[in-house]
Amino acid sequence: MRDEAIVELLGVWKIYHMGRRGRITVEALRGVDLAVRRGEFLAVMGPSGSGKSTLLHLMGCLDRPTEGKVLFEGTDVSTMRSAALARIRNRRVGFVFQSFNLSPNLTALGNVELPMVFAGVPRRERLARARELLSRVGLRERERHLPAELSGGEQQRVAIARALANFPDLLLADEPTGNLDSETGHGVLSLLSETNVEGVTVVVVTHDPEVATAAKRRLRIRDGHIVEASDA
Ligand SMILES: Nc1ncnc2c1ncn2[C@@H]1O[C@H](COP(=O)(O)OP(=O)(O)O)[C@@H](O)[C@H]1O
Ligand SMILES: [Mg+2]
Repeated sequence: MRDEAIVELLGVWKIYHMGRRGRITVEALRGVDLAVRRGEFLAVMGPSGSGKSTLLHLMGCLDRPTEGKVLFEGTDVSTMRSAALARIRNRRVGFVFQSFNLSPNLTALGNVELPMVFAGVPRRERLARARELLSRVGLRERERHLPAELSGGEQQRVAIARALANFPDLLLADEPTGNLDSETGHGVLSLLSETNVEGVTVVVVTHDPEVATAAKRRLRIRDGHIVEASDA
């Protein structure tokens, strides 16, 4: 089925408990219904604190909903145990964050290899795949550099290479150009678009109009609700 959803949220609530004895509650998502179709390039926009990152974390099996269901490739993951969720994340999902989140003590090559280490990929294969990915993002000659020895744009390209290491079905990016100047951000956006053209489903949280325009579908979140979904 080509129109099958890769990830689907059904009546999803996420409530965080804070403060003494968890008495303060924050309703980060309030009844979200959303289907992301295979091959989509979806942009999620909305003000700070509206629930965008929470939504992305649930889509990527980083967290579970308080109420409702999350179906990942047709499987209900909303009540799965942490180890099972971690396995799905490692094999099926790639994450790219605003602040890059690279391991500071690993080289660019080591960072791209890391998800493959967790997946048990043999060393030779890992090295070949990591080098191929670094070439793709234009950083083959930087493979021995540590994150601190790379520019912001270079670090984000390493993060994208890392996210693609295990051939994910779904690439999730949380404000990936938020810390980059516009020209560098443009390069990162091109990589996301190419990745989508190659068949990976891409969901990107963004404030960047250029990123939103490049996406094939846009939706807006406000106070934990999806308030508008428009097709390009
Ligand atoms: N781990 C957490 N514990 C408590 N509150 C949280 C947590 N993560 C997010 N929140 C709260 O949930 C709401 C939505 O947060 P978030 O999804 O990060 O929004 P956005 O990414 O749109 O800025 C905010 O009010 C935020 O403070
Ligand atoms: Mg956020």
